[in-house]
Amino acid sequence: VTIPYDLEAAQKDGYDTFMLKEIYEQPHVIQETLRGRIIEDKIVLDELQDIDFKDYNKVYFVACGTAYHATLCGSQVLERTTKLPVNTMVASEFRYNDPLIDKHTLAIFVSQSGETADTLAALRLAKEKGATTIAIANVLGSTISRDADYVLYTCAGPEIAVASTKAYTTQLVLLILLAYYVAQVLEKNIDHELIDQLNTIPQYVENILNDHAIFENYAKMLENLHDAYFIGRSLDYASVLEGALKLKEVSYVHADAYVAGELKHGPIALIEEGSVVIAVATQPHIAAKTMSNIQETIARGANVILLTTHGEEVKNVENTYYLPDVSPTLQSILVAIPLQFIAYYTACIKGCDVDKPRNLAKSVTVE
Ligand code: G6P
Repeated sequence: VTIPYDLEAAQKDGYDTFMLKEIYEQPHVIQETLRGRIIEDKIVLDELQDIDFKDYNKVYFVACGTAYHATLCGSQVLERTTKLPVNTMVASEFRYNDPLIDKHTLAIFVSQSGETADTLAALRLAKEKGATTIAIANVLGSTISRDADYVLYTCAGPEIAVASTKAYTTQLVLLILLAYYVAQVLEKNIDHELIDQLNTIPQYVENILNDHAIFENYAKMLENLHDAYFIGRSLDYASVLEGALKLKEVSYVHADAYVAGELKHGPIALIEEGSVVIAVATQPHIAAKTMSNIQETIARGANVILLTTHGEEVKNVENTYYLPDVSPTLQSILVAIPLQFIAYYTACIKGCDVDKPRNLAKSVTVE
């Protein structure tokens, strides 16, 4: 008897695509990334114990693509918790823009593969200029992990789909841990409740995964559109940038993300009857402002998909999804899941090759 064996199908573990498998792996890999790094209410990052954080007066975050979006969140969290001034740059800009770096600069490079040419060149430049460098990588032994002074690993496991999902959420987890770790070492006031809540994130992600049918329905709204608009403020802006990137990568729907407060400076001109606006409003200090931007798009005929939290006043938005009640900082991790599903199902409905989108590579090792 010959039993046909399809290696790729076996690796997909019963899922139709690697992307879907990797979306569903998130509770587990987030748990793995947290493992051993929170003990009682302390964050433990032994890999960094030799760094004297008092030596630094500035922090740079550098990355490409999805990893860059993770740094946009991580850098805001680190600045808030440590009060150190932070710069965030895409690697291809950083390496050619003569960044202001010296031995009092801490430079943090984030890369799933650890092999992205621009990120590696940026790391070398930072080292030449005297910065202390930390890599956040997923692939063990990758070039970035060997070249940086210090390395922290996400524990996402192999990510095969070109569009990053589980690497992104584990990067967010690790960047938040890093921000709170530096704050702890610098003896800043720390939100201990947030540290406790980190341990509950895998379960909340699981709950959101169970709501996949809701996001599949949202995706139907995008099926026949050429464009989609994403809006958010503060940490939600980093989330919508990533949501828009995911959608265009896998479904080829042209998607742009805007700071909601910038709508009036141009993008609102594009909104017309039937436009779809995907809004994220999870940050209580600014959510009401985003809600009022949503009304401006509705008044011009937009259909809105809103991802928000209980307690916000939602008006006229039929397609509202309420995220679990956790600290606003942690919402960046949770809201990634609906955005991944919206991109994924839109691509499926349109018959796209979800795992291997045209013109894209998993690891960009040339400039
Ligand atoms: C490519 C991939 C993206 C990824 C980016 C950075 O463009 O398609 O998914 O975010 O590279 O990759 P890295 O391995 O450095 O995180």
